[in-house]
Amino acid sequence: MKNKYLEIRIVKNRKELNDVLKIRETVFVKEQNCPWECEMDGLDDEAKHVIVKYKGKTIGCARVRLPGNRAKLERIALLKEYRGKGFGRELMDYLIRYCRRKKVGEIFLHSQLYAKDFYKKCGFRSRGKTFSEAGIEHIEMYYEGLN
Ligand SMILES: CC(C)(COP(=O)(O)OP(=O)(O)OC[C@H]1O[C@@H](n2cnc3c(N)ncnc32)[C@H](O)[C@@H]1OP(=O)(O)O)[C@@H](O)C(=O)NCCC(=O)NCCS
Repeated sequence: MKNKYLEIRIVKNRKELNDVLKIRETVFVKEQNCPWECEMDGLDDEAKHVIVKYKGKTIGCARVRLPGNRAKLERIALLKEYRGKGFGRELMDYLIRYCRRKKVGEIFLHSQLYAKDFYKKCGFRSRGKTFSEAGIEHIEMYYEGLN
């Protein structure tokens, strides 16, 4: 990790999972107005949850699902005041390393249109047409650096 105060790893227990769900509520439901039912989509039990901490405080999260031989990265978020400091890229690097260890054949995600260039900088390329998800325009992106 480039920043010594930054910790990114799989959640260890129920309390950390609850902390992660609170980040999602703050960012997606309250800040971005995603409907609660879309955010809590019933897929959390089949996902691995990643927690991001800064100086011991939970500041971000992500979720990885492994359908088939593919990895889908979801719910990538940092609290507003911790954005623009390179932490998002650190989170993406962690997620890609995690997926590599799982030996998946492909890593993909649904990017909100405004975040497309962020994912591009992390090695992802867009594919297909835009579509609406939770009322927000998205595009599918896949990681180009796997092989
Ligand atoms: C998307 C998100 C995780 C990015 O995290 P971040 O910590 O702000 O990103 P970083 O500081 O690591 O940025 C890495 C690079 O991407 C660029 N970048 C970050 N967000 C960007 C954006 N929205 N558009 C274009 N470029 C962006 C940065 O300028 C930086 O570029 P550089 O390496 O040339 O300096 C964060 O903005 C966030 O949590 N957003 C709210 C939740 C959300 O919408 N998640 C995405 C759901 S698809």
